[in-house]
Amino acid sequence: MKKQLLIIAHAPSDNTAALARASFDAANDYDTHDLNVRLLSPFDVQTEDVIKADGVIIGTTENIGYMAGATKDMFDRCYNDWIDISAGKAVGLYIRAGLDGTATTHALNSILNGLRWRMMAPPLVLHGTWNSAFIDEVAELSLGMAAGIDAGIF
Ligand SMILES: Cc1cc2nc3c(=O)[nH]c(=O)nc-3n(C[C@H](O)[C@H](O)[C@H](O)COP(=O)(O)O)c2cc1C
Repeated sequence: MKKQLLIIAHAPSDNTAALARASFDAANDYDTHDLNVRLLSPFDVQTEDVIKADGVIIGTTENIGYMAGATKDMFDRCYNDWIDISAGKAVGLYIRAGLDGTATTHALNSILNGLRWRMMAPPLVLHGTWNSAFIDEVAELSLGMAAGIDAGIF
C-alpha cells in the first residue's frame, strides 16, 4: 500500500494559497513511486484522514493572536478521537503570520505534545511582510517530510 502524506493547509489569501500549492507540489514531485500526497482544508479534515496518513503537514495562519479558527475547529472536532490512536504521528508545521506567530507556535506545540505527535522539523514561522522566499521554505519542509516518509525514517 502506498504511504501517504496529508497536507492540511488553511489558505485564506493568495499568498497562503501559494504556500499550500508549493507544499503539495514539492511533495508530489518528489521522485518516488510509493507516496500519495493529499491536500485538504482543515474544515474538510475528518478523524480518519489523519489516522490513514503516515505523516501530516499543518499550515495555518495566525489571526488575532492565535491559530486560524479553521485550524482550531479541526482540533476541536478531532482531538478526542486522535488522542488514543495517533501517538507518534510525524508532523511538520508552517505558520504564516503577518506580525508574529509566537502564540500560534506555542498553542500548536502544546496541542501536538498532548497528542504525542512527533515534530520532524522546527516549526516554520513565516512572519513579516510577504516574501516569495517563504514558498521555497515551505517546499523544503514538504520535501523533507516526503523523503522521510518515503524512506521509512519517520
Ligand atoms: C483579522 C486578522 C487578524 C490577524 N491577526 C494577526 C495576528 O494576531 N498575528 C499575526 O502575526 N498576524 C495576524 N494577521 C495577519 C495574517 O496572519 C496574514 O494576513 C495571513 O497569514 C495571510 O498572509 P498574507 O497577508 O501574506 O496573505 C491577521 C490578519 C487578519 C485578517
